[in-house]
Amino acid sequence: MNMRNALGLALLYGAALFTMGSSSVVAEVQSLRGIQDINADSNPAAIQHWQEDKEPIQRDYVQQPPLVPHAIEGYKVNLKFNKCLTCHSWANYKKARATKISQTHFEDREGEVLANVSARRYFCTQCHVPQIDASPLVENEFQPVQAITGQ
Ligand code: HEC
Ligand code: HEC
Repeated sequence: MNMRNALGLALLYGAALFTMGSSSVVAEVQSLRGIQDINADSNPAAIQHWQEDKEPIQRDYVQQPPLVPHAIEGYKVNLKFNKCLTCHSWANYKKARATKISQTHFEDREGEVLANVSARRYFCTQCHVPQIDASPLVENEFQPVQAITGQ
């Protein structure tokens, strides 16, 4: 058997193993070592009282993704549709009287400027979250650097 055939066979074998593996995996999520009950600590209490829409919320430091000052329940963001951009895109922000997404949202990870929202900034709620008036779970004494807060 020459090298090329051997490689082909190895690849085939690998692919077969991979397919077998993935078809036998039932959607069961486990901790890395398989010994933690990962549901034990989760308490996915649904948000009961969405906040009223309000003015933008003051940012605590300059690089902070601003908090969402309005309800977003039911706003879909998927491969084909992005509800947030219907108001926040550069094309729509004026009509919606919303803040336009900033230039940084058009840059890829090398800093190249793109013609459209970068994939890394597409799923808005990865970084921007709405608020409810809840008491903090842990105390936080964070102080921004005064010189650059602009407040
Ligand atoms: C129907 C239009 C509309 C939709 C849809 C919408 N927004 Fe907004 N958004 C607004 C308006 C209006 C404001 C407030 C602008 C103001 O008062 O200065 C705002 C404010 C914000 C701000 C605060 C900006 C700042 O400078 O503090 C963020 C962040 C934000 N929205 C994120 C989102 C995200 C994320 C989504 C999707 C899940 C979304 N918005 C969907 C209209 C919309
Ligand atoms: C990876 C994190 C991340 C994602 C994803 C993201 N943003 Fe942002 N966003 C930021 C950060 C950080 C800032 C503040 C600094 C800046 O402008 O980049 C910001 C700023 C903003 C602002 C305020 C702009 C201004 O001029 O003050 C708006 C509005 C906004 N984002 C909306 C959105 C919308 C809508 C989406 C989804 C299409 C989105 N963002 C996705 C991190 C993110």
